[in-house]
Amino acid sequence: MKRTKIIDLLASQPGEALVCAKGWVRTHRGSKSVHFIALNDGSTIKNIQVVADAEKFDEEMLKQITTGACISVEGNLVESVGSGQAVEIQATKIEVLGLCGADYPMQKKGQSFEYMRQHAHMRLRTNTFGAVMRIRHNMAMAIHTYFHEHGFYYFHTPLITASDCEGAGNMFQVTTKNLYDLQKDENGKIIYDDDFFGEQTSLTVSGQLEGELGATALGQIYTFGPTFRAENSNTPRHLAEFWMIEPEMAFYDKTDLMDLEEDFIKYCVRWALEKCGDDLEFLNKMIDKTLIERLQGVLKETFVRLPYTEGIEILQEAIKNGKKFEFPCNWGDDLASEHERYLVEEHFKKPVIMTDYPKEIKAFYMKMNEDGKTMQGTDVLFPAIGEIIGGSVREEDYDKLMAEINRRQMDTSTLWWYLDTRRWGSCPHAGFGLGFERLILFVTGMQNIRDVIPFPRTPKSANF
Ligand code: 4AD
Ligand code: MG
Repeated sequence: MKRTKIIDLLASQPGEALVCAKGWVRTHRGSKSVHFIALNDGSTIKNIQVVADAEKFDEEMLKQITTGACISVEGNLVESVGSGQAVEIQATKIEVLGLCGADYPMQKKGQSFEYMRQHAHMRLRTNTFGAVMRIRHNMAMAIHTYFHEHGFYYFHTPLITASDCEGAGNMFQVTTKNLYDLQKDENGKIIYDDDFFGEQTSLTVSGQLEGELGATALGQIYTFGPTFRAENSNTPRHLAEFWMIEPEMAFYDKTDLMDLEEDFIKYCVRWALEKCGDDLEFLNKMIDKTLIERLQGVLKETFVRLPYTEGIEILQEAIKNGKKFEFPCNWGDDLASEHERYLVEEHFKKPVIMTDYPKEIKAFYMKMNEDGKTMQGTDVLFPAIGEIIGGSVREEDYDKLMAEINRRQMDTSTLWWYLDTRRWGSCPHAGFGLGFERLILFVTGMQNIRDVIPFPRTPKSANF
């Protein structure tokens, strides 16, 4: 018999026709006369209740219906007398498809996220991870829809690269060399001539540089793919492998860029509120009681646009008035998450787009302001998250860009193709990167970035 998804069954009217549901048992309680099974198939956070008269079923089979077991049920969809659901299945046939013993790690309710991370291959079957993964999917759909509807082309940039976009040097190397027998030249440098690509290559930290090639030909593009950072940051906001969305637009100035950042992120949040209601309600109840309110709040607010220098002044003022921070924040310092969160959560109480950062803390490609000290960056800082977007206007002037590259003593041999955009038909352009998992953190109210990606990659952890 053809299976119907539980989400569709729950939206159906009770009727005479037989239905079939398949899924995993969440709970099973039984008395001498009747058994109640809560069944979930991942199509919705909601379970369907299966009612089985004890006398109609084999006792041994009923015993096999344990938490986590996979079963197939046929029966009539009837009006439910119990509270909590409109319909339930009055079972006529039950088949156990997959047994699940008492050693099933997701057996108990209320297990810690820490514990569940050890069993990340099975945690997907829990309510919380089901909700998070459905929302994650929805956010990916929202992102593609937004850009498609706004005339951006989905542009694929390479994952293996010879250049370091952010210039921070925290890249994972890609090689087919025999690491047990590394050949070095007379200066002690590794010889890459005979490596797969004939030069040193790594996993990309950002698709931006190639994205700029796309934007300066197609007008506006976006990337959406995995990025890799070998930064040894063991924080609830950092992953070694994360997904990033990077739109890049020709003819955008700083205001256009900030407008897009704000509109785009609001579109995603609105999508979640409109399309993920059941999952959000669950997370609001179980994880974070202010979640839905916070999401609605972001839609209502106009984001503050704050130059870095003014931000530092506000932080200094706060320190004068007794506020304690762990890290210093003098002009020139990179803001720590505690500073960003103070500005967003305590001072303004709304999202902040911080602009015009000191050049020493930003990447080489940003457009320099006339002061020669600050660059046209536009990072979006969010409540509970801190930096969710990093963006900037790009330096389109060849000479100014080269001057900055030389000042930083960067190796131009792997960047010649990037510099060519400034030699031939250069144009003003801008772009940003949204950390996909940071968006999911915000939209789900989850606390740890390891819990919003199916299989997290972090220092000392590449399981599953
Ligand atoms: O600020 P970032 O480093 O900017 C760039 O990579 C630019 N090339 C983007 C661009 O302009 N096209 O990273 C962008 C965003 C951050 O704001 C953050 O949300 C996320 O990527 N991010 C991380 N997310 C998870 N784990 C990490 N280790 C991350 N590093 C950055
Ligand atoms: Mg950044």
